[in-house]
Amino acid sequence: MKFKAITIGVPREIMDGERRVAVIPDTVKNFVDAGARVLIEKDAGSMAFYDNDAYTQAGAEIVENPADLYGRSDVILKVKEPRMNESIGKHEIELMQEGAILIGFLHPASPANHEMVQMLVRKNITSFTLDGIPRISRAQHMDALTSMSTVAGYKAVIIGAKHLSRFMPMMPTASGVIPPAQVFVLGTGVAGLQSVAMAKRMGSKVKTLDIRPEANEQARSLGAEVIPFVLPEGLGVGEGGYARRLPEEWYEKERKALSETIVGSDMVILAALLPGERAPILVTEAMVLQMKKGSVIVDISVDQGGNCATTKAGEEYSYQGIMISGLANIPATLATDSTRMFAQNAWHFMSHIVKDGTVERYSDDIIIQETLVTRDREIVHRGTLQSQDEES
Ligand code: NAI
Repeated sequence: MKFKAITIGVPREIMDGERRVAVIPDTVKNFVDAGARVLIEKDAGSMAFYDNDAYTQAGAEIVENPADLYGRSDVILKVKEPRMNESIGKHEIELMQEGAILIGFLHPASPANHEMVQMLVRKNITSFTLDGIPRISRAQHMDALTSMSTVAGYKAVIIGAKHLSRFMPMMPTASGVIPPAQVFVLGTGVAGLQSVAMAKRMGSKVKTLDIRPEANEQARSLGAEVIPFVLPEGLGVGEGGYARRLPEEWYEKERKALSETIVGSDMVILAALLPGERAPILVTEAMVLQMKKGSVIVDISVDQGGNCATTKAGEEYSYQGIMISGLANIPATLATDSTRMFAQNAWHFMSHIVKDGTVERYSDDIIIQETLVTRDREIVHRGTLQSQDEES
């Protein structure tokens, strides 16, 4: 049996506002059928509306005390990186068994997590970060980050619509026909394309811009109008087909190309990111001030610094009559489905890294190499090493 004799512990997430959990009853059943024992903290799924009974029926054991759960688990599977559990005065890593395995979104290269990674090293934890899954077709069903981008792109339009002082679709009304809202989506990767699809479903007119020609093509195929902005060939696309940082003069040209559309939009969704870097600022304060009062900006690139100069991370506020949303961790607001997606991706990832009851830690498989953060009391993750070096 693949998971024979492995005890997987699933704690309740303790980050503020986090409503997801790492397993659903279906994936618990998969683990149990494959030979694992699954411990889940009491009420871990309640904020995502998966209840204790459903987990028990799927074969999990409900554990009341987090210290007990951590102490009995070979593998800890969770959504977000470990942190201090204020209610018991202990860090989650302190609660883990020496030499245990940790899997989740660890964001190990983020300076805020450097000390957490050092704690993993000291405790000899083998850790895997799900945000490191490579964007290759055979890893698609494990790609939790893509799943969460899908959620963020969809929810961005709902958030925008909630704040918008106008209808999204064209509305034939008793007082005449009201035109549809004009939506602009900047950056049409996984998240931005979902926003395009959602805004179209809601009947709005959608314009977009990306610096990758392929992304513009995808936006067009969803019915968006792509703003004309021509870059010298290859300038916007780097290694592996991902977006690349542009020289500042080109950002200036891009801002000019965008300005008129942004000023004329009722809703602006900002989803332009650069892999592993700060997001570029493409919407200036001057552009925001020229927008119509009552319009909305939803900046979903906020976890990487935001695309708008006036976004406040984690906040929604009205700036001279323009509502600016910089909500963080949007996937947690769609907890049932984002949990379902995360749990399925995590199940596929674990099936990939476990062979004959052992977690593979020394493989040259690219999925393992790109996700492995610590092993044998050492940091082995390239991005994390680089970022720790830069800081010291
Ligand atoms: P991302 O989240 O890193 O970036 C979002 C978007 O912002 C990208 O489309 C990027 O080109 C765009 N962007 C960056 N700078 C910009 C600027 N100055 N102006 C306008 N747009 C800008 O990208 P994401 O969503 O991760 O997708 C990247 C690529 O990877 C896509 O082609 C996607 O189809 C592919 N992918 C492949 C997967 C697989 O094969 N398993 C899984 C997920 C994505």
